[in-house]
Amino acid sequence: GRGVAMVTAVAARLAAHRHLLEETLAPFQLNHEQLAAVQAQMREAMVKGLRGEASSLRMLPTYVRATPDGSGKDVCFVLRMWPRALDSREGPGLDHPLTCPTLQLFDHIVDCIVDFQQKQGLSGQSLPLGFTFSFPCRQLGLDQGILLNWTKGFSASDCEGQDIVCLLREAIGRRQAVELNVVAIVNDTVGTMMSCGYEDPRCEVGLIVGTGTNACYMEELRNVAAVAGDSGQMCINMEWGAFGDDGSLGLLRTCFDASVDQASINPGKQSFEKMISGMYLGEIVRHILLHLTSLGVLFRGQQTQRLQTRDIFKTKFLSEIESDSLALRQVRAILEDLGLSLTSDDALMVLEVCQAVSQRAAQLCGAGVAAVVEKIRENRGLEELTVSIGVDGTLYKLHPHFSSLVAATVRELAPRCVVTFLQSEDGSGKGAALVTAVACRLAQMARV
Ligand code: GLC
Repeated sequence: GRGVAMVTAVAARLAAHRHLLEETLAPFQLNHEQLAAVQAQMREAMVKGLRGEASSLRMLPTYVRATPDGSGKDVCFVLRMWPRALDSREGPGLDHPLTCPTLQLFDHIVDCIVDFQQKQGLSGQSLPLGFTFSFPCRQLGLDQGILLNWTKGFSASDCEGQDIVCLLREAIGRRQAVELNVVAIVNDTVGTMMSCGYEDPRCEVGLIVGTGTNACYMEELRNVAAVAGDSGQMCINMEWGAFGDDGSLGLLRTCFDASVDQASINPGKQSFEKMISGMYLGEIVRHILLHLTSLGVLFRGQQTQRLQTRDIFKTKFLSEIESDSLALRQVRAILEDLGLSLTSDDALMVLEVCQAVSQRAAQLCGAGVAAVVEKIRENRGLEELTVSIGVDGTLYKLHPHFSSLVAATVRELAPRCVVTFLQSEDGSGKGAALVTAVACRLAQMARV
């Protein structure tokens, strides 16, 4: 009698918990119509941005017009704007936004270059320098880039509105006995596209899914209102992280997205990025877990200090937790390492939360890619387009299912495009080197 009643009560509680879990995660499961709508909105925002009309997509011209043929032999120097350790912090880990006075920042960068130059035995030579700068810049040429705003938790407010190349040249000037010739500034998406384009001429799109997310692609110049000329193509830095900042993603955004946004240093900005990239996914998961705990579904309903701690869930954990080779007890061990004490039911539920969040991210990313490749196809009036995409970023590369979900979504939403994804190795750095080489060659040609 009593035993049966207890078992029934436990079963009823589990069923209720399951129901609450499913209800919480339902808004993360996007169907075909919702994803097709995202693709259509992205497409519309692209067109508006290119025309210079109000749009959440800036569609920034990069002045990269042609892919290199590889014949350049120029010695080139490439500098990634940020030491790798700084930019690869997956999951923000930024308790304080990165603030730093501009002068100091650029002096530091020049110190790093000089250091590198010495290590390479190239001291004293005047070298062309190209560098990757992974933030939105308004360019008027290859060697000019006005920083529009910081993203991804960076903030050195006196930099905004300034030409990054000038700041760097000034810092070089402040340093004695150093000759460096800054010839190109390149967004990381562009560098990635270029580096893959070196081996595959069909590579006409660059995609980053790491701390932040963004894409670039080769657009017909006739469609780019901001740049004169009607023939040929130019690479456009979409800055798609800002997609939806005009409210167009409103219906898809959950209350958890809103919480993550509010707690960020740039509320209301980078809406698409905040649903997709490594800096934010762990935080979305954490907010869902807090909610499920408050409903009594997880952690026996006990809120802990640990779970209230910002950024405890790094993207790395998401990748680990979702790895197919892990048994549930290993998932549990990972979570216990984070300081969470849980039952085995909890471990399964946390896994499901992670899956829902990263699946939505990959599908949204895929919807964006579908919009891009379809636009290229239509631009060229093709029945079918074969195109390659250079990709970089830790979330894309390390997460066990992210890349295949992106590809599946693109197949579904852009069936007339045959898309190959190429993973690049330090693509943005090599790409910047290529752009620099081409810029040097063009400059030499102009002199003779
Ligand atoms: C952010 C930056 C963008 C960059 C992307 C990936 O979205 O604004 O310029 O390409 O992160 O690093």
